[in-house]
Amino acid sequence: MCGIIGYIGKKNAIQILINGLHREIYRGYDSSGIVVFGKNEPICIKAVGKIENLEKKLNSQSIEGNLGLGHCRWATHGEVTEANAHPHFDCQKNIFLVHNGIIENYKELKKKLEKEGHQFNSDTDTEVLTHLVEKYFQGNLEEAVRKALREVRGTYGIAVISKKDPQKIVAAKLSSPLILGINKDEFLIASDPSAIITHTRQVINLDDNEIAVLKPDNFFILREKPLTQIEWTPGDEKKGGYPHFMLKEIMEEPEAIENAIKGRLMIEEGSVKLGGFDEIQERLRKINKLILVACGTASYSARIGKYMLEEYAGIPTEVDVGSEFRYRKPIVDKNTAVIFISQSGETADTLASLQEMKKKEILTLGVTNVVGSTQARETNAGVYTRSGSEIAVASSKAFIGQLATLAMLTVYLGRQRDMALIMGKRIVSELSGLPDIAKEVLKSASEIKELAEKYKDFKNFWFIGRKYNSPIASEGALKLKELSYLHAEGIGGGELKHGHLALIDESFPTIAICPSDSVYEKMVSNIEEIKARKGPVIALATKNNKEIKNLVDDVIYIPKTLEMLTPILATIPLHLFSYYMAVLLKNDVDKPRNLAKSVTVE
Ligand code: F6R
Repeated sequence: MCGIIGYIGKKNAIQILINGLHREIYRGYDSSGIVVFGKNEPICIKAVGKIENLEKKLNSQSIEGNLGLGHCRWATHGEVTEANAHPHFDCQKNIFLVHNGIIENYKELKKKLEKEGHQFNSDTDTEVLTHLVEKYFQGNLEEAVRKALREVRGTYGIAVISKKDPQKIVAAKLSSPLILGINKDEFLIASDPSAIITHTRQVINLDDNEIAVLKPDNFFILREKPLTQIEWTPGDEKKGGYPHFMLKEIMEEPEAIENAIKGRLMIEEGSVKLGGFDEIQERLRKINKLILVACGTASYSARIGKYMLEEYAGIPTEVDVGSEFRYRKPIVDKNTAVIFISQSGETADTLASLQEMKKKEILTLGVTNVVGSTQARETNAGVYTRSGSEIAVASSKAFIGQLATLAMLTVYLGRQRDMALIMGKRIVSELSGLPDIAKEVLKSASEIKELAEKYKDFKNFWFIGRKYNSPIASEGALKLKELSYLHAEGIGGGELKHGHLALIDESFPTIAICPSDSVYEKMVSNIEEIKARKGPVIALATKNNKEIKNLVDDVIYIPKTLEMLTPILATIPLHLFSYYMAVLLKNDVDKPRNLAKSVTVE
């Protein structure tokens, strides 16, 4: 969701900015722009739509300059137009600024600035920042930025350059990620490590309220920060021969389990090693209440985590979505731990919830994919899911990584309490074999593609499941909505008769997740209820269940595993189904309309 890239050094900035933007657009965007300080005047070019439109405009001119900023915008305030695209500039075209985040008090600031004579070119909240910097500019850009930021409320990652204080980029952040890339004779600033990884792996994560000043030969920020080494490689963002990142990432789901568990399972001890928790082991023993907070797909892994943690670790567990939790008055005390689950580690509602808990000095834990993300840095302790970079907007392998991690967390906390050695051993050894079992599931990809062919003209879908697989019904429905733009709803099977059955007829198929587990018979009753009303049913059942074939229209089989781990296997066919539906419906499967990868605004 919006991407920033900035360059200062000896090379021509244009190609570096464009390459950086290409690596950031997976976050979601609808327009883009760059500004480069050439020999004489700053050149600022913007375009609506694909980045290629910007490139076409750039190719028609010869632009050179060693300093510049680039931005891809995902509209929040103001329509998708060139005027609303970044960079924004002040009345004198002296200051150029790119911004991620939202300036909440922009209306009042704009009114004030207009009264003072400033003229606005766009409908965005960002432009007020440009004019505020102009207002305070007296020859020193960082000083002007510092004064301007004192007046704003909201969130920002910004990069600013000025014609009258040239040869410098000033960058600042508050609740929106910004990293500084350090290389010999050049510096970069970006909202996403992927934008700079081909230049350098030496980065500094800017902290909230810090201002960085980058010059051609040096840089400074308010505080000294440790260098972080980026652990993934540039190849991670390539499609690897698949037509879409979405398919590549679904195909990597077995690998996501493998990466999550690698080096962490202790089969003989029936336990797991989570290095991130070493220092707080004793505090964790005393925890008697857990709250899991996340958004979207990650919130479904939280719901599954609740089943695992209550059944096997015996800890009362609540689940909430970040957008609700941040405004609640949860009952928490020193024996409560709040676990934040996020692929990106940058989701605004999850981070705001985290800040609320930090204010109360509650123990905060993170289950995060992106290394060095705000969530990873701000929580007291955490576990990385190690799913690798996820480029497609809709989450797939990261969700699987979260489920595997939550299973390990359950064993970790369970073994600190009453979980028997034999139970620990059972879960851990099942987890160790799960990547291979998951690979088996992928073999049914062509059958699932055929099913998508059969069902592609239906406009509405139910997804039902119970207990561990009730959240998977929600995940199946969300993924179908996101990728295929079809109407889908996911509910617990037991809820059908409380109103939802009214919708069932021949035109409303149901995908019923019914592995052979403790609620299988309940699911069969729910399927009967649907069939009695002529609703088509696709069942997701355990291999060798022949009975189910006589009951439903189609069956997708998954191998047998422990009940608490079935959601991992059940997810894979549902992700594939949504993917194939979207491809058949000719949708932009990697970048579904109206959505952004990283939801960094409220
Ligand atoms: C759905 C999807 C979103 C994210 C949600 C949270 O496919 O990708 O629902 O799961 O925006 O994102 P993270 O996990 O980055 O906090």
